[in-house]
Amino acid sequence: MSFEGQVVVVTGASRGIGREIALGFARHGAAVACVATTEAGASATASAIEAEGGTAKAYACDVSDAASVETLFTNVGADLGAPSVLVNNAGINRDTLLMRMKDEDWDRVLAVNLKGAFLCIRAVTRSMMKARYGRIVNISSVIGQTGAAGQANYAASKAGLFGLTMSVAKELGSRGITCNAVAPGFIETDMTENLPAEMRELVMKTAPAGRLGTPADIAPAVLFLASREASYVTGQTITVDGGLTL
Ligand code: NAI
Repeated sequence: MSFEGQVVVVTGASRGIGREIALGFARHGAAVACVATTEAGASATASAIEAEGGTAKAYACDVSDAASVETLFTNVGADLGAPSVLVNNAGINRDTLLMRMKDEDWDRVLAVNLKGAFLCIRAVTRSMMKARYGRIVNISSVIGQTGAAGQANYAASKAGLFGLTMSVAKELGSRGITCNAVAPGFIETDMTENLPAEMRELVMKTAPAGRLGTPADIAPAVLFLASREASYVTGQTITVDGGLTL
């Protein structure tokens, strides 16, 4: 599996799962556009890649903002070349029970997690269609498959990504573009650091793997779906959850 000569865009690359995905692509030869909300966050990952001898560039962008996303893809094209891979990993949660959920909690989570993926896909497909080649991977969640109390906004955004993934796969398949999703279970990152101890224990007891996942468990699934070798896999979801949802 090689990404030599390819430009890969990874959103939410400053930390956690996105950082590991960005490092993974760079280790397989790609030039990686590391995207995060802050320049400092994106630069930290780009520097880590360069320290390993890889190629990367940092970009600050709010994926929920159409103008910011258009500027991002114009800049990536000018700096590194047209991307052949897009990984929509940027995501947030604002967990609270339905009765207490503010409009703003709903809107912001949907805007970043779902609209952000749509905006990035729309911006990247022009050049992918021209090249008649592209790989899009959306990072969803098992919560989008099962739902969760206190996560109505997050679950809806992640379930929405499945519909988006299948539609893009159908719409762009004839142009050599695939679109797939990865649904992680509970992964040790900043997002889950405040997970209550009982929840942590429940995951460890329920999942056949007997542990929470790490970002390094997710990256290989993303790299596979983004590879040339995965050309006949599209509109699918790979669940990487240690068997939690079995
Ligand atoms: P994290 O909180 O550690 O990192 C999130 C990243 O998204 C950061 O780089 C942040 O800068 C970026 N981001 C947030 N809002 C953004 C915006 N408006 N524009 C651009 N970038 C933005 O999260 P983690 O845990 O690494 O999660 C990554 C993805 O994986 C998310 O989509 C999350 O929903 C998903 N996921 C995480 C799971 C977990 O257990 N940690 C489980 C299932 C899915």
